[in-house]
Amino acid sequence: MTEAVTLNVEELSMRFGGIHAVEALSFQVMQGTIFALIGPNGAGKSTVFNCINGVYRPSAGRMIFEDEDITGLGSHRIARLGIARTFQNLALFRNMTVLDNLLLGRNHYLNAGPIRGGFLTRRARKEEHEARLKVEQIIDFLEIESVRKQFVGSLPFGIQRRVELGRALAAEPKLLLLDEPVSGMNAEETEDMVRFILDINEEIGTTILLVEHDMGVVMDISDRVAVINFGVKIAEGTPQEVSVNPVVIEAYLGKGDKDQ
Ligand SMILES: Nc1ncnc2c1ncn2[C@@H]1O[C@H](COP(=O)(O)OP(=O)(O)O)[C@@H](O)[C@H]1O
Ligand SMILES: [Mg+2]
Repeated sequence: MTEAVTLNVEELSMRFGGIHAVEALSFQVMQGTIFALIGPNGAGKSTVFNCINGVYRPSAGRMIFEDEDITGLGSHRIARLGIARTFQNLALFRNMTVLDNLLLGRNHYLNAGPIRGGFLTRRARKEEHEARLKVEQIIDFLEIESVRKQFVGSLPFGIQRRVELGRALAAEPKLLLLDEPVSGMNAEETEDMVRFILDINEEIGTTILLVEHDMGVVMDISDRVAVINFGVKIAEGTPQEVSVNPVVIEAYLGKGDKDQ
């Protein structure tokens, strides 16, 4: 396995008024790996994602993606550099088809602008063609051919999550951020999602950073795990090391493990 660092988070802090949501958090995601950030609800996991993909400007600290300092860049800029994410509470257009949602995920590739003065420019036509090919590949990969023309809002929750994963993949990210990818799923949907996450990592080679409050699933699929509680890292290591760490066990027992 390569030793290149894809994402280096250094002493990241994010405060909202008096709330220290994330406090001097550091971790490194190595290229080609699956890294999990876990912690009880309210620990600061989604806030970390919002800092990485430019929704929030951190109060302190730096984030280096490959060789570029992305701290304080806007979310479009960060997406263009190759970071895509899914959201804890799905971010899809429910009244649009699966196909169109995936095409939208491709949007930042559309440099030519789709329509100029009522007709497609040559460059736009080429981009549109490439987008459709890519999106069809993803539909195949995620096994959602049968619903490609259906409205997203009409689909079961587990499939909607898969579509959202497809929307993120359509951007062809180097780093994929997954915010609680299996929350609210039943056992079968969870098993499917886990398989797709592993396939994306192994077959496409995408580096993955995921956050989860439930320790179970991530332990099976992650190369490395960091645990945060109240915005502070309390442990890091292999899944095996972390799962037997008394400080981690205490953090989970102390807080309970409810869905929010
Ligand atoms: N935009 C915001 N404004 C104020 N407080 C926030 C905001 N976003 C998150 N927080 C607070 O930061 C803490 C961490 O939240 P969050 O990152 O959503 O946790 P997690 O994803 O681990 O459940 C919580 O106390 C939450 O209320
Ligand atoms: Mg969250």
